[in-house]
Amino acid sequence: MEILSNFSLKNHNTFGIEAKAKRFVDVHSVEELKSVLQQNQSEKKFILGGGSNMLLTQDIDALVIHVDLKGKNILKEDDDFVWVQSQAGENWHELVLWTIGQNFGGLENMSLIPGNVGTTPIQNIGAYGTEMKDTFVSCEAVNIAALEMKTFHKEECSFGYRESIFKHEAKDQYVITSVIFKLTKRNHKINTSYGDITAELAKNDISTPTLKDISNAVIAIRQSKLPDPKELGNSGSFFKNPIISKSEFEKIHHQFPEMKYYNISETEVKVPAGWLIEQAGFKGKRFGDAGIHKNQALVLVNYGNATGQEILNVSKDIQETIFKTFGIHIEAEVNVI
Ligand code: EPU
Repeated sequence: MEILSNFSLKNHNTFGIEAKAKRFVDVHSVEELKSVLQQNQSEKKFILGGGSNMLLTQDIDALVIHVDLKGKNILKEDDDFVWVQSQAGENWHELVLWTIGQNFGGLENMSLIPGNVGTTPIQNIGAYGTEMKDTFVSCEAVNIAALEMKTFHKEECSFGYRESIFKHEAKDQYVITSVIFKLTKRNHKINTSYGDITAELAKNDISTPTLKDISNAVIAIRQSKLPDPKELGNSGSFFKNPIISKSEFEKIHHQFPEMKYYNISETEVKVPAGWLIEQAGFKGKRFGDAGIHKNQALVLVNYGNATGQEILNVSKDIQETIFKTFGIHIEAEVNVI
């Protein structure tokens, strides 16, 4: 394992931001990971997966450990279910396609989400009516300080909307090395609850969709709304959809009756940040090389040479305007480094 100095992270973050790691190393196995952690105990560490959920606003003054553990396998199965284990460095979408290819159900609604498997539990990725927690069984992780393996079972992970223990109590203490999913082999729970999916299937005259049909529909929807990071730097949704109190919601809804919303509980409502940002006039706007995507206002983009700071400034401008206009605070979903 070679530790590189002053290493450019431009190809390791989907925003395509130029920033340097003081030191950088690729690890390909749990043994390599443990050995790097052990040999560099006093040095600050930064754990890097697919780089699809971060905005680099500065160089990283640490040892960046790129988790590149590969492999996926079937751990066990019965007549109805299969337990699939994937190593952390596997590309998420490739895992999804691999499961669909074997007619294993559960991940299809999350097709084409960028990033690697090992980071999916951190923010409990989700799309089109499904979240990772719905099929998650457990994950293995290395404790950075103690160098011991720990298994996190679903109940311990405190999963919520784009939330988990790995953003809170366990933050910066573990490196997730593999994840286990429980998927269906038959009686798949085809989930077409999301309006866009229903519309896409109807467009193609599909009335009894297969896993592959759902995946294809999701891919088509994502490709029509979300920019491909290979073509236009971005990190998916930059903000979370805010959850506000019903009373707060009612005041805004009275003023803007066309606003879309989802009831979360008796007292809380989730409102689409993309709608708020579009109403505030930001959709499709460009400020130098930083901008707001023309088809999905939740996505900030890098047209080429934007710095992380420039994108951060645009995000702050959006937050302030939304607060002034609607009295709602929208919170970043990506990790700002
Ligand atoms: N909307 C607008 N203008 C926009 C964008 C959205 O008015 O520019 C409105 C839409 O009309 C729709 C509503 O907002 O009524 C929801 O839009 P959409 O279905 O595109 O989903 P979203 O809430 O904006 C969330 C996730 C996405 C995920 C989609 C589909 C978050 C922060 N984002 O976006 O996740 O793909 O739902 O499930 O929850 C990601 O996390 O990176 C991501 C892309």
